[in-house]
Amino acid sequence: MVIKKVRLNNYQSHSDSLVTFTERIAFVVGLDRDHGTSNGSGKSSIINGIIYGIYGKSNLPATQLVRHGCGDMLVAVEIEHLNKKIQIVRSKSGTTGKLSVFIDGQEITGKIEEKQAVIDSLFGDYQTFVGFSVVDSVRFLDLEDLSSSELRDTLLMLVNAEKIQKMQDDFGKRKMELEIMLKKNTSLHFPSAKRMDILKSSLILTETEGKALDSEIGILTEELGSLSTKKENLYKEIENYEKTDQFLTEHSKCPTCFTGLEPDKKTVIAQGLKESIMSKSHDLENIELTIKTTSAAKTGLSTHRLSVITKTAKIRLLIGKLDDAVRNRTKDNKLCAELGLYTRGLQTINKFLSFILTNTACELEDYINGELSKFTDMVCKINLTKTTNEGKVIPTCSILIYRDGNVQTYKSLSSGEKSMLALLLKLGINSLKGTNGLFLVDEGLDRLDQINRSRILNTLELSNFSQIMLISHREELDSLRNTQRIYVIKNQGISTISGI
Ligand SMILES: Nc1ncnc2c1ncn2[C@@H]1O[C@H](COP(=O)(O)OP(=O)(O)O)[C@@H](O)[C@H]1O
Ligand SMILES: [Mg+2]
Repeated sequence: MVIKKVRLNNYQSHSDSLVTFTERIAFVVGLDRDHGTSNGSGKSSIINGIIYGIYGKSNLPATQLVRHGCGDMLVAVEIEHLNKKIQIVRSKSGTTGKLSVFIDGQEITGKIEEKQAVIDSLFGDYQTFVGFSVVDSVRFLDLEDLSSSELRDTLLMLVNAEKIQKMQDDFGKRKMELEIMLKKNTSLHFPSAKRMDILKSSLILTETEGKALDSEIGILTEELGSLSTKKENLYKEIENYEKTDQFLTEHSKCPTCFTGLEPDKKTVIAQGLKESIMSKSHDLENIELTIKTTSAAKTGLSTHRLSVITKTAKIRLLIGKLDDAVRNRTKDNKLCAELGLYTRGLQTINKFLSFILTNTACELEDYINGELSKFTDMVCKINLTKTTNEGKVIPTCSILIYRDGNVQTYKSLSSGEKSMLALLLKLGINSLKGTNGLFLVDEGLDRLDQINRSRILNTLELSNFSQIMLISHREELDSLRNTQRIYVIKNQGISTISGI
């Protein structure tokens, strides 16, 4: 990827600047004539304008990018990439943004996001681009700002860990699902054969008991029926005797043949009737007593029968549940086997990720130490430890610096040493990524002394970056060859590109 041209129209302090890059290395210096300083002349705006043009993103809100007093802004970038000419024109008029993309003169159609997706597919997304290609005060010129998680993310990005992490997430999710499913099933019922045997024998017992109770209740019901018939008959008999007795009291005739009756004879018959009534009444009393006790026995048996029915239903329910559990056991076995697969898979992925991260950290360390040995007696060590969260390995990274065998804190280094280490780390990252893209350094070398500056520039010159842009507030060009010098001059608040 090579930036051929960038046009900044009403972008920050630039009213209409066109920068044409003619060499592999561009050295941007500046002068604010109004104040006689390099600061604020509009140098960084060139790099930031390129990034804004490609990605529509900036450290500043878009409204602050439009030159003060202007309503419209336009940034156009022309890039040569894989033998294709890509032109990106991004403009802003009020709140309306517009993006045009041309590949070899052919305009890409679609919504802004669709066109941006085409750009991202060509040059990588914004994060990756600024992470790998830009070194400036906001993008870790100072390692102090590089947190452990950022270093880890950089390493992960270097090993293209996205796909592995996606797999790690998918495996972790499925593993958790399986664990929950299994937990649910086993808490339902444990499929015990012994328990099933006990339940089945209990069912036979209660069913037999139920049948026996039914027949006993049947017998008692029949008995009660015949007792109540007997009771009815006795009532009738007693009624008949009483009627005959009444007749005898009112008449002196035989109640059956109606012939006259002697008083003695009448007395004998009446006496006989009274005795019969008494005897039948006695029988009736006995029967009523029997009915009472039989009914009580029947009620008792019926209540017991009801409890046996409830018990039988409960046993049947438990047997049903156990049957389900036995069926689930077969399913559970399958789930267990799947869980085993996912657990082992996750372990393998974690091991693999740890392995490639450790390997990459070692390679990065080797690169930095190789370069460091040219400059200083410092040796750095990338420390990679890991923590495990829900089966997922999360690496933790830190950089240690050794000098004469002693650990030295990054803070205790000189500012030049700090920026050198940060630059070498960035170069190491780029070298490992095998990038041959852009390397944009905004005032990253200014803290280095003359000798170290030359060494770094030499390393950059020999690197395989396709294009290097160096912004500096120092004018000297050092020993760089094939370098284009770009002057940004600010006059009365407006930056222009002056001379090549
Ligand atoms: N929207 C804007 N309109 C006009 N000037 C701006 C705008 N935004 C920033 N500036 C000016 O641009 C200068 C910053 O430009 P920059 O490229 O960062 O300078 P430097 O040469 O120091 O890198 C500052 O002087 C700032 O006031
Ligand atoms: Mg600047």
